[in-house]
Amino acid sequence: MGSRLEPRALWAKRASIRATGRLAFCRSSGYDLNINAQPRVEIMIPVIDITPLRSRGELSEEPTLETIAEAALNFGAFIVRGHGLSPDLIEATYEESERFFRAPLADKMALYIGRNPQHRGYVPVEERGAYGDERYRSYESFDLGVDQPSADPHSRAAHRLLGPNIWPERPDFKAKVSAYLSAVTELSLTLCSALERVLALPSETFTGQMRCPTSQLRLLRYLDRAPEERAEVNMGAHTDYECLTIIHQRDLGLQVMDPHGEWVEAKAGPDELLILFGDLLEVWSNGLLKSTPHRVINAAGERSSLVYFAGLDYDTIVQPDPSLISEQRPAGYAAIHAGQHLERMLKRDFPYLAELDSAPERGEPDPIISPFEGRIKKREV
Ligand SMILES: [Fe+2]
Repeated sequence: MGSRLEPRALWAKRASIRATGRLAFCRSSGYDLNINAQPRVEIMIPVIDITPLRSRGELSEEPTLETIAEAALNFGAFIVRGHGLSPDLIEATYEESERFFRAPLADKMALYIGRNPQHRGYVPVEERGAYGDERYRSYESFDLGVDQPSADPHSRAAHRLLGPNIWPERPDFKAKVSAYLSAVTELSLTLCSALERVLALPSETFTGQMRCPTSQLRLLRYLDRAPEERAEVNMGAHTDYECLTIIHQRDLGLQVMDPHGEWVEAKAGPDELLILFGDLLEVWSNGLLKSTPHRVINAAGERSSLVYFAGLDYDTIVQPDPSLISEQRPAGYAAIHAGQHLERMLKRDFPYLAELDSAPERGEPDPIISPFEGRIKKREV
């Protein structure tokens, strides 16, 4: 376990953070970004080697934590290398994923997510969520989570979000994809533990609520489109609903909103992973971390990615940590129920879930709006 940054030193550090000379944190404005950029210079997503975080104390973690703090607070996302997921493991997961997606649609639909008691399985292109900017949804996915027996009390308490995975009948799919799921889960704990130290929070503040979490792994394939459709948004702009998202991509296409409100290409390479913040860490950090808006424009043709959402135990109540509330920075968020927030937002993404919850006497449901996507709305104006 590396040393923890002292709160006093960390506050001083935060106050002095400068990413590009154009961004600064300003105590008097409650650490909001003070942007003064004319002409605008594209800000690259910071790239961080996190090897020291995995060295079991052999390497000093402090410089890495400081770099993560700068990236997290100034940009709101970062790319990691030295993450410990081997190229072979990543390649094997893609191989299984691609073999699955190449199967006939009828075989894939036998594992349709809407036919399972848990939120697990195949998601076809037609399972289209409610995104105003998404003109050509072009992706299909296979969704998994923590593999829990349905009789387990955690599964029963978490409704559809926890339970047994379902697996395609392919010889190596389960073993290889489970290995990736296990490795990326461990990485998520390493990163969340680092963020506890970045924010000067007690050890296990986040990770102590990740014993049987509603985390998910999505194997994604974006289909090639007609040339005139390629420039359109294939996955609508949104934030993610959990703590962290860890993404490996084989091809470009993912865009992240920078602090100016501009979309920048996430240029993570084959040995790198993109890290986004989710809604729950925004609340927990009282807005020091911001849930990262992102979208996909799949301009290159077929595209594959592996996306892991690091969630919390279903019943976790998240609220701004008292140590991050002050007179200058009052609590900016109401308490939120981690599992219910995820369930609510997934109804926006999955028509089958919205249908399960609908009742004719209630009439047309209100549109599901995320309180964390205000920056996207501002961009659209
Ligand atoms: Fe997302």
